[in-house]
Amino acid sequence: MLLHVTEALTAEQVRSCRERLSTAQWADGRVTAGYQSAQAKRNGQLPETDPLARDLGELVTQAVLAHPTFFAGALPRHVYPPLFNRYTDGEQFGFHIDNAIRYDRRTTPALPLRTDLSATLFLSGPDEYAGGELVVEDSFGTHAVKLPAGDLLLYPGSSLHKVTPVTRGTRIASFFWIQSLIRDASQRRILFDLDVAIQTLQQNGGSDAQTLLSLTGVYHNLLRQWSET
Ligand code: NI
Repeated sequence: MLLHVTEALTAEQVRSCRERLSTAQWADGRVTAGYQSAQAKRNGQLPETDPLARDLGELVTQAVLAHPTFFAGALPRHVYPPLFNRYTDGEQFGFHIDNAIRYDRRTTPALPLRTDLSATLFLSGPDEYAGGELVVEDSFGTHAVKLPAGDLLLYPGSSLHKVTPVTRGTRIASFFWIQSLIRDASQRRILFDLDVAIQTLQQNGGSDAQTLLSLTGVYHNLLRQWSET
């Protein structure tokens, strides 16, 4: 499932991130790529150890964890510290699949995280650059995505994806991975659909309180059965 999360960051948070990133020291993006994907990757990236990346990464993590759609879609167990990248001057990242395991080095020993989900948070508006689409292949076909600044795309870590060349302007984004409480994507999808249906019933007045209660119970019992903590 591809999930568009609107306003993962508020306009004010985007503005503040962009301002702080305007003086960033961008390094060669190949530092976080595996051997194979390094061949396809050409962009700038903030080093993981850069205090700015850590600060802004913390802001992004707190924001997404508090966002109801992100939370319902990802059911996060662990969020990898968000990273930041920049594409300009024809830079691109060809088709690749993200590494299955990443190590969160904020703890000793480093904590292995399984990348069930990948997230891209757009920090540049679509009018600021040409090209730079995030193209994701899933079982339903190929999707080219370019979202407003502050919006986020959540997509399966297992999917083949690329960023097309940025032919004008600059595209700045944050990207990160999530290990979910629910490893299986189809189970995660069922829980998301059920959650959305329950929320909609509630918003529509929730006149049948007994049925709502029972559906909410079903949701939690499935979550209990399927989750790994
Ligand atoms: Ni990737």
